[in-house]
Amino acid sequence: MNNRLVLGIETSCDETAASVILEGTTVLSNIVASQVEIHSEYGGIVPEIASRKHVEAIHAVINSALSSAGIGFGELDAIAVTQGPGLVGSLIVGFSYAKAAAIAGDKPLTGVNHIHAHMLSVFLDAEKRPRFPFVGLVVSGGHTSLYLVRGFLNAELLGQTRDDAAGEAFDKVAKILGLPYPGGPIIGHLAQKGSRNRFPFPRAWLPTTPFDFSFSGLKTSVLQQVRKIEHSGQDIPVEDICASFEEAVIDVLVQKTLAAARQKGVQDVAIVGGVASNRHLRQTMLVKAKAEGLRCFFPNKEFCTDNAAMVAYTGYHQLKAGITLGPDADVYSRLPL
Ligand code: KG4
Ligand code: ZN
Repeated sequence: MNNRLVLGIETSCDETAASVILEGTTVLSNIVASQVEIHSEYGGIVPEIASRKHVEAIHAVINSALSSAGIGFGELDAIAVTQGPGLVGSLIVGFSYAKAAAIAGDKPLTGVNHIHAHMLSVFLDAEKRPRFPFVGLVVSGGHTSLYLVRGFLNAELLGQTRDDAAGEAFDKVAKILGLPYPGGPIIGHLAQKGSRNRFPFPRAWLPTTPFDFSFSGLKTSVLQQVRKIEHSGQDIPVEDICASFEEAVIDVLVQKTLAAARQKGVQDVAIVGGVASNRHLRQTMLVKAKAEGLRCFFPNKEFCTDNAAMVAYTGYHQLKAGITLGPDADVYSRLPL
């Protein structure tokens, strides 16, 4: 199978994205149409609005990915599309488009797991790539999971969140503080000016399942603290709350990732997903990993949040292994890696 030019399509949440990659190495185009302004009015993603906006945007986004790459549809060798996990109404838009395009153009189609794609996004920087096996932390708005990654198509789940994802905790705490959606970037920004130890928010270490996560208790603790300050009639120290909250999340993410690396005896760790664009997480992880003699890898920021280059890249490896979909394939709201 010739997979020289692969088109990736991603519509699992609120970003309509398409990308063309060449020879499984070079990203020729990476187009992302974000709906964030529409959903921020509601303080979070409204699934029905998300799928309607994908319907409106998908054709233009794909055309734009092809024209930025300087190629026509006929030149594509294969199509890769996100099959799950995600919002079903959103997934169906990209998936149906991909299926129809693959049938009409007589091109192979492969279905990509969104978490898998986030994991492999760390390989989109050709100059700084981890070596297998490595410990990978996927940390986004929908997922917080640790994996032992043995190969491009081989990952073992070590642990995952029992309740909220870390990005979801950022978004919920932002809502409590009256900050806009999504909360991660704005909290990260305000935290830079705050005290990281003013509020000792709880960390869920979960000693019996040390690679699992839990962030709902932390979110509740922030809510209680904010209410207490409101009742006392004082101003909410937003920057200190952001900094202390961010510190609690990052402390847990970093410690658990390092503990997994130690236990599995790997030399490399990778942190991927929307929260991996957090500056304080990147700095803390780099310093602590170095102190333990580990190498730490992050995707470039454009590949941390949802994009289709990571889908095309993962699809490239699946196609190389002969993994394709038939015309009766479906999408999945839950899809384990
Ligand atoms: O990977 P992503 O775009 O979508 C999912 O697959 O969920 O991640 C989005 C999440 C949101 O929860 C957002 O608040 C969070 O990533 N995020 C951040 C930062 N940038 C985005 N969280 C913390 N710090 C950031 N700088
Ligand atoms: Zn994602």
